[in-house]
Amino acid sequence: MNRAIVAFCLLLSTSAAVAQDEPGRRPPAPREPLLDVLDTDHDGSLSAAEIAAAGTSLARLDRDGDGALSPRELPRAAAPGRDRPAPAPATASPERPPLAADDAERRALAVLDELDASRRGNMNVPQNDGRMLRLLVEAVGAQNVVELGTSNGYSAIWMALGLRHTEGHVTTHELEPRRAQVARANLERAGVADRVTIVVGDAHETIAQLDSPIDLLFIDADKDGYLDYLQKLRERVRPGGLIVAHNMSRPRPDPAFLEAITTDPGLETLFFHLDDSGIAVTLKKRTAAER
Ligand SMILES: C[S@@+](CC[C@H](N)C(=O)[O-])C[C@H]1O[C@@H](n2cnc3c(N)ncnc32)[C@H](O)[C@@H]1O
Repeated sequence: MNRAIVAFCLLLSTSAAVAQDEPGRRPPAPREPLLDVLDTDHDGSLSAAEIAAAGTSLARLDRDGDGALSPRELPRAAAPGRDRPAPAPATASPERPPLAADDAERRALAVLDELDASRRGNMNVPQNDGRMLRLLVEAVGAQNVVELGTSNGYSAIWMALGLRHTEGHVTTHELEPRRAQVARANLERAGVADRVTIVVGDAHETIAQLDSPIDLLFIDADKDGYLDYLQKLRERVRPGGLIVAHNMSRPRPDPAFLEAITTDPGLETLFFHLDDSGIAVTLKKRTAAER
């Protein structure tokens, strides 16, 4: 456990305790926003388990995946202005960390935790988007998933957790051979390599080899290529299938892609996690004949 994190946690818990112990002697101190991040059971104190998990909790704030926390990524304390009322306290999310249902899941989650703690340069989706991908894969009973942009395999591992239960497979495309190699090793360690095929090369070209109907398409490669991917694969996505696109708020998405997924009557698109990097979930609607 990193000593700096322990010292930091103790400092936060001490300042929170002082604020609670001296009612009436000073205005109530705003709750430390970083304490909120580390205090995952929201009981106002940090348990030994929460201190041990501090690195993972902090890594979740690293939206751009560069391994560091910039001022923009750090949560801010509410600072009421002189003429403005104090903002209502933010509602703490009742979400809890993912829990392993069996040994295979425990093994994969351990690798995901490790990748969460060392995200620098890998541009992985935030953990909540990974969890959402797994949920969607399982909810649509996906047999055939296509991912564009593998990096070190982080999102592919999340999707493979769902594919274990649907008996499905993900074909993931990566431009950089070195990244594909790292992904292969991570998939092996996570115990899900049999659910994943990595295709190395420029996905704008390699997707021409895809021939089966796609149940879920996840687009997370070159950001200015999203429209081309959509145009090339829209017809391959089965009716009732999903097109999931990452980075719908950061980096700025291609307006032509946004236009394409929001103005096509054959598609139904909603956006999630826009306060983070943002993810779009698009349903390819069934026609009356396809019901
Ligand atoms: C944002 S990262 C993917 C992160 C990954 N989905 C995850 O969450 O773990 C984008 C990846 O797309 C790859 N990439 C960029 N352009 C590509 C292209 N034309 N074809 C295939 N992969 C590409 C990059 O090398 C990079 O590894």
